[in-house]
Amino acid sequence: MKSVLVIVALLAGITLYSCHSNSSSENDHASENNTSGSTAPSASGTTASMDVNAPSSSQGVGKFNDIQVGNTIDSKMAEQGQEVFQTKCTACHQATAQRLIGPGLKGITKIRTAAWIMNMVTNPDKMVQEDPVAKALYNEFNQTQMTNQGLTDQEAREVLEFLRQNDAQ
Ligand code: HEC
Repeated sequence: MKSVLVIVALLAGITLYSCHSNSSSENDHASENNTSGSTAPSASGTTASMDVNAPSSSQGVGKFNDIQVGNTIDSKMAEQGQEVFQTKCTACHQATAQRLIGPGLKGITKIRTAAWIMNMVTNPDKMVQEDPVAKALYNEFNQTQMTNQGLTDQEAREVLEFLRQNDAQ
């Protein structure tokens, strides 16, 4: 009787061990696929079918709403925006349609509202968690989170002007 118990205990031990090693190798695999190193399960899978290149009238989530821009481009402001763009954005974005770490930004002002862009630029973490378009983009771009570059409201407005000028050319 005693030896039967020992065998049962051993078998249970072997089964537990093999289960454990299986699940840990699955975890290893999952983290290999995750380029950002952090997981955000809430953002994955829910909006996979959204076309991120389709025009959207969303204002986004954040403090900017219904931002009015002039009919003409303020070239002084656009120039300041270009400086901000070059120092804080070009590690991940190009002003052409070319994809880098993030999307190419040519044409962005044609498919997103001014407020959406300013919310995304000043608070990308909140946008990716709460805005459906930003969530879909996050999934499209291998779950790499755009980093908050700490732009002031004024800098965000200047970058917007630069992007408008970029799209007018
Ligand atoms: C560390 C890389 C990184 C930096 C730096 C970065 N971004 Fe992003 N950006 C991304 C990624 C990746 C996305 C796609 C959404 C996501 O995964 O968070 C994105 C999305 C965007 C979008 C939405 C694009 C679309 O197609 O709707 C805009 C606009 C944007 N970024 C502007 C900027 C601006 C302006 C700056 C500089 C102030 C900047 N980003 C800095 C990585 C970055």
